[in-house]
Amino acid sequence: MKQRIVMNDFSREYRDLGKPLIKKLDSFLAAGQYILGPNVAAFERGFARHLGSKYCVGVGNGLEAIQIALMGLGVGKGDEVITVSNSDVATALAILYAGATPVFIDVDEYYHLDPKLLERAITKRTKAILPVHLFGQAADMSAILDVAKKHKLMIVEDACQAHGATYKGKYAGTFGTAGCFSFYPTKNLGAAGDAGAIVTDNKALYEKCLMLRNRGAKKRCVHVLRGLNSRLDELQAVILRHKLPRLRAANKRRREVAARYISLLSGVAGVGLPGERQGARHVYHQFVISVPHRDKLMKYLSMHGVDSLVHYPVPIHWQESFSGFRNTHLPKTERYTKEMLSLPVHPYMTEAQVDAVAGLVKKFFCNKK
Ligand SMILES: Cc1ncc(COP(=O)(O)O)c(C=O)c1O
Repeated sequence: MKQRIVMNDFSREYRDLGKPLIKKLDSFLAAGQYILGPNVAAFERGFARHLGSKYCVGVGNGLEAIQIALMGLGVGKGDEVITVSNSDVATALAILYAGATPVFIDVDEYYHLDPKLLERAITKRTKAILPVHLFGQAADMSAILDVAKKHKLMIVEDACQAHGATYKGKYAGTFGTAGCFSFYPTKNLGAAGDAGAIVTDNKALYEKCLMLRNRGAKKRCVHVLRGLNSRLDELQAVILRHKLPRLRAANKRRREVAARYISLLSGVAGVGLPGERQGARHVYHQFVISVPHRDKLMKYLSMHGVDSLVHYPVPIHWQESFSGFRNTHLPKTERYTKEMLSLPVHPYMTEAQVDAVAGLVKKFFCNKK
């Protein structure tokens, strides 16, 4: 039987990571230092160095990375944070859990916060802008930084989908006061469970985040803040340390897969292809096309053994848990929700698999004529 073409091939990756990882896990388990030990510290140093940031704080997941960064910056009750609705719900939950209110604005043609819409969303309560580097590409950071500077607002970046993406040569996650990452297994740098990190050049924020992730403790049993229990697991840190040196090559491979899709699908009537923002290096966490008859195409692909997904079928402001935000109208976000489709893209995809997926997409639209 022909194998399905999947969104992520974890078993293939595990075979590739192989025995050296097992050996590292074995010594970690034998050493018995399971919480905030040498692996978390080494990963934090390595990830900060990789991005060119001064500090990194490993935390439990991406949601809490954003929440802790906002709390650390003193964003809370009565404050507004401007962000997008076309994201994982965690982006907005993190703002709410910090005690602040998300204000959703519409996106540009790259699915990112549209800087042109920022100024009219700013009020006396606005404290921060939270752009999301969605799908593996950086938002329009030059324009966002200009507005933030003019209005003295902080920037906290949701870089949960953008490990290794750059904009004008600088890594996504290093433009604002804090950059927040998720290492959810499907991410470009993924753990074998939940994990996240905050990066910053701000020493005071770094020190606060260290406490906030660990129940607000300054040292053992001395609690100066009301924090969370959101420590990056040592076990996940062992895996992340092992995978970090492979991130560049994995992203390069993702870009090759994307380039092949683009060359095979360009000119196919009905298929909108992902563009690369000027100055940006996309790392294709997702390869998102925009198409009419999206749901029918998904079914067609599935029938022929190809998985696909929609990121995101329901924008945050339309979710039941955000019913108070129903009055927000975001025309582009709402339109993209109906058109976007994520095709499989991962470092282990073969050229034959890319050709097969692109061939099916082409056939679907040719038969539609
Ligand atoms: C854009 C975005 N923000 C935030 C998150 C939350 O990360 P986590 O699932 O690690 O809490 C995710 C991950 O799913 C994400 O894709």
